[in-house]
Amino acid sequence: MAKTPKLSLLQRPRRLRRQPSRRALVAETVLRVEDLIAPLFVVEGKARPDPIASMPGVFRLGIDDLVKECRELHQLGVPAVALFPKLSPKLKNEEGTEALNPETLVLRAVRAVRKAVPELTIITDVALDPYTTHGHDGVLNEAGDDVDNDRTVAILSRMAVLQAEAGVDFVAPSDMMDGRVGAIRLALETAGFSDTGILAYSAKYNSAYYGPFRDAVGSAQAAGTRLLSKATYQMNPANRREALREVELDVAEGADIVMVKPAGAYLDIIREVRNATGTPVAAYQVSGEYAQIHAAARLGWLDLARCRDESLLAIKRAGADMILTYFAKEVAKALR
Ligand code: PBG
Repeated sequence: MAKTPKLSLLQRPRRLRRQPSRRALVAETVLRVEDLIAPLFVVEGKARPDPIASMPGVFRLGIDDLVKECRELHQLGVPAVALFPKLSPKLKNEEGTEALNPETLVLRAVRAVRKAVPELTIITDVALDPYTTHGHDGVLNEAGDDVDNDRTVAILSRMAVLQAEAGVDFVAPSDMMDGRVGAIRLALETAGFSDTGILAYSAKYNSAYYGPFRDAVGSAQAAGTRLLSKATYQMNPANRREALREVELDVAEGADIVMVKPAGAYLDIIREVRNATGTPVAAYQVSGEYAQIHAAARLGWLDLARCRDESLLAIKRAGADMILTYFAKEVAKALR
């Protein structure tokens, strides 16, 4: 056998991959516990955490358990939580009026968490889907064939003020109505909450990856069983330039942080947004992204921890400053 001649290379990239310490020196992206935001589901008076079948390891928590969870997350160094209420169907109606009840579940939850863990950053969703019988993010027009943009924005603005009063740090409009960021900013200013921020779901796509979340909060009806689809307000997955336009508008209207959602299938959008704005960028690794890693791991086809870490690192590398992820707590523990 002839001896393979040595290549005469000046550059050998593998030199930098020789051992862990060399690799660490040249690592370009690091996932930190400070990058993580934990989405949490809250329910009325649960004695025990209520598991969500399509999201292994995720539970709907009563307020007491929620407070406990927030305390643990804070101790682990997770800087923020995003709260989502799951309402009893009895409280839902066509107009989602429960959203404007000053004693509604999520507002009580915010007050309890604020009091118990004052330093934790609290984020709440501004959208009507947990409150409407039809599961849409807003109220419908008279014909029932469209979400009434402007009437919805007026309701969302009041909702945001209630959340600010309850003590949230950021309100997060996830509804994708036109003009809602500006209207909410104005409503917050008028009510004296100039320190309450807006984390805008700016590029929120009409995605099939929200399925498990809709199981969790019981808003699955709107996903396509009715004539009216969320595609009339959430973005078409085909579009990239439109995301930049949405971001531009939201920043102009007063968004403090802009978000891309989902994350994993939209890394190109995260990068584009990162390059286009100086505003901090959040990305939401949504329920379906979490579920698919779990499902494959359960079948023995993927390594859960490695896929989890790689998926989050990729989102960070794409340009996200912060990541909403259902893996937040376990990753925080792993990073210790
Ligand atoms: C509702 C909302 C959704 C999610 C966050 N806020 C679902 C939807 O738009 O139907 C999805 C989050 C996830 O899938 O993890 N405004």
